Amino acid sequence: MTRVLVTGAAGQIGSALVPALREAYGGDRVLATDIHPPTEPGAGPFALLDCTDPGAVAERLAEHRPTVVYHLAALLSAVGERKPQTAYEVNLGGLFNVLEAAREQGFAVFTPSSIAAFGPSTPRDGTPQDTLQRPSTMYGVTKVAGELLCDYYHTRFGVDTRGVRYPGIISASPPGGGTTDYAVEIFFAAVERGSYTSFLSADTQLDMMYMPDALRAAMELMEADGTGLAHRNAFNVTAMQLTPATLGDAIRRHLPDFRLGFDPDPVRQAIADSWPRSLDDSAAREEWGWRPEYDLEGMTADMLRRVRARAQVRTS
Ligand code: SER
Repeated sequence: MTRVLVTGAAGQIGSALVPALREAYGGDRVLATDIHPPTEPGAGPFALLDCTDPGAVAERLAEHRPTVVYHLAALLSAVGERKPQTAYEVNLGGLFNVLEAAREQGFAVFTPSSIAAFGPSTPRDGTPQDTLQRPSTMYGVTKVAGELLCDYYHTRFGVDTRGVRYPGIISASPPGGGTTDYAVEIFFAAVERGSYTSFLSADTQLDMMYMPDALRAAMELMEADGTGLAHRNAFNVTAMQLTPATLGDAIRRHLPDFRLGFDPDPVRQAIADSWPRSLDDSAAREEWGWRPEYDLEGMTADMLRRVRARAQVRTS
């Protein structure tokens, strides 16, 4: 019987993953945790949890007795550059506390890594599964170290650790402090104002994925037969390669008057320029059957529908 605990449940991925897990495994089997209380009280079981507190982590996990933990609590890349010490403490310290509890209590752990685990010396096109990883951000440093730590807990202690390297994730749930956030902001600005100024240059190409595919990637990987997984903790996954200009064109096919400008932010532009332009995700496809469902057109149509619905709720 699957029982789940999610950390960082109020974040961009967590707020979408928790309902999907409750649908799959039953509402009371999924405990959502975060340092922030839920915005919709009564949606399901919730507990406050600060992952940097080892005692609280061990205690909360021992109480709920999950079989799987989706450990999502982390700071993203741009905010991590503003607060590198906090990023280290939360991203690596929090992961260490969860892995230690997993070693003692025996649950499986999903941890997201990221395209940020690569750096300027990584091949940028068709970035291989196994390649140079010398990131230039604190976020990237914590992601590479996290991948290694998860591998270590698997080989040394037998903990069932698994993870993917997510690209930028596009969703109607807001991200916070990432370099790929433009790809979410652009939809809200298009619907609410008819115009957007991108903080990345027109031709900055990065891998992206629509949230339903990101959720499926996590859940399918955790359900996969572990004996077939050679890479376990850091599968490249992608769905599409976008630039602000190509995303703007896709939105304009629905909203012909949409205006897109560019005013690159030096910090986030430098981060984006250090990341891959396109990932090779063949290991995930071969080892556990990964396939994205949403392409640029399908994602754009669905995002506009969702963002319009949210805008209507706000104005009514
Ligand atoms: N979306 C993340 C960020 O921009 C990348 O993992 O920080």
